Amino acid sequence: MTTYLLALDQGTSSSRSIVFDAQGRLVASAQMELPQIYPRPGWVEHDPREIWRTQLATARQALAKAGLAARDIRAVGITNQRETTVVWNRKTGAPIHHAIVWQDRRAEPICSALRDAGMADTIQQKTGLLIDAYFSGSKLQWMLDHVAGAREAAERGELAFGTVDSWLVWQLTGGKRHVTDVSNASRTMLFNVHTNQWDDELLAALNIPRSLLPEVLPSAADFGRTDAEVLGGEIAIGGVAGDQQAALFGQGCFGAGMAKNTYGTGCFMLMHTGGRFQTSTNGLLTTAAAQPDARARYALEGSVFVGGAVVQWLRDGLRAIEHSGQVQQLAESVPDSGGVMMVPAFTGLGAPYWKPDARGTITGLTRGTTLAHIARAALESIAYQSAALLLAMSRDAVASGGTPVSELRVDGGACVNNLLMQFQADLLGIPVVRPACVETTALGAAYLAGLATGIYGSTDELSALWKAERRFVPTLGQDRAHALMQRWEQAVRQTTAE
Ligand code: G3P
Repeated sequence: MTTYLLALDQGTSSSRSIVFDAQGRLVASAQMELPQIYPRPGWVEHDPREIWRTQLATARQALAKAGLAARDIRAVGITNQRETTVVWNRKTGAPIHHAIVWQDRRAEPICSALRDAGMADTIQQKTGLLIDAYFSGSKLQWMLDHVAGAREAAERGELAFGTVDSWLVWQLTGGKRHVTDVSNASRTMLFNVHTNQWDDELLAALNIPRSLLPEVLPSAADFGRTDAEVLGGEIAIGGVAGDQQAALFGQGCFGAGMAKNTYGTGCFMLMHTGGRFQTSTNGLLTTAAAQPDARARYALEGSVFVGGAVVQWLRDGLRAIEHSGQVQQLAESVPDSGGVMMVPAFTGLGAPYWKPDARGTITGLTRGTTLAHIARAALESIAYQSAALLLAMSRDAVASGGTPVSELRVDGGACVNNLLMQFQADLLGIPVVRPACVETTALGAAYLAGLATGIYGSTDELSALWKAERRFVPTLGQDRAHALMQRWEQAVRQTTAE
């Protein structure tokens, strides 16, 4: 009898479900858009009921497409948009407010007060994070302070807090389990990643009652069983991980120095650092990697705010192309960018620069510059920003006695672009490797569920399943790559008036 795994991948813009076989091959998938709610500038919300409705619908669709029933599925794995904060009533299951999405900036004043209170070092040492409204803790405090009656109800133990994984497990188990995994907990700013426990000092600093919090388990564990009503039969929930950590896992990056980059609207790069908690001196975050057992494992993380979104800008802002797919053709119509550099700092620059006030710039324009050169520079900007992140990670690794990254594994929508991947390899001077299965986020969740339920004995078995589809080997000399990075850094300097 063939064994199957069902991965639920609840992302920011859509809910998706994928059925895999035990060899990690995709059997069937389904996807539904998730409505975005923008109540005010800088605020982003989701309706938790829509999150659940769309996720459940896609899970049922994926099973139907695969021609499978609940009894054919050995285990469910969940992966999710991280940091997004849900609070619901334990008795009724009703959310007390829309989910506050990771992109939402409303909790900035709470973060600013934490900085003023001198909490930055403590928070970085305990959680690996830099104080920011991105993380769940300040969003949770905001809800308790602003939703009528919420704080009193929380103090009476009537409310539950969760990231999206917790909310989904609660729904899947018919309200029987209130749990999360270490990788999601590590994004709350309330969780001590050394002890793998909620931290009383941080809870006090953010004024969060402990009774709200879910139980934290390793990423492969017994998260409960789906209620028979939900998917037509009980299925073990064996894996849970935040989407970026799940992708690192699905890419087979299990050991120190292995790194992946996901090329989406933005880019998320993670480098595994093994059992070592490493603090970055280059503005990167330290985060819990997916943990298949009780042993703590860590990663360094950095993100590019505008990755694939620069192609949308070419389409919608400049009207240089009609469809995103045309960008490669236009960029390839010229041999290089003709000296044009674009820094798409539309919303400031993240790691390793941290220039929130920076704005986009295009340098090196000449009378001979065409739209094709600009399109090429736009595409290349994704690779430059990612290269700057990877170089920062390698510097951090070397500074703490490790080795620089020797290969970058890639996934996400824009990794299909061969021109971009080749330029990425050229800039980095290391191979860029695209796997046969680019659904690495969902695959990581499925693998965790498979480990928890005995389909796989160890991560070594999973390493053997990982297959490259194409390796992009550097073709530029080191000196040339170095000179290009210098020119990039020069363009970055021009994004703010110094
Ligand atoms: O930290 C946010 C990240 O987890 C969101 O990922 O793929 O849903 O945009 P995605």
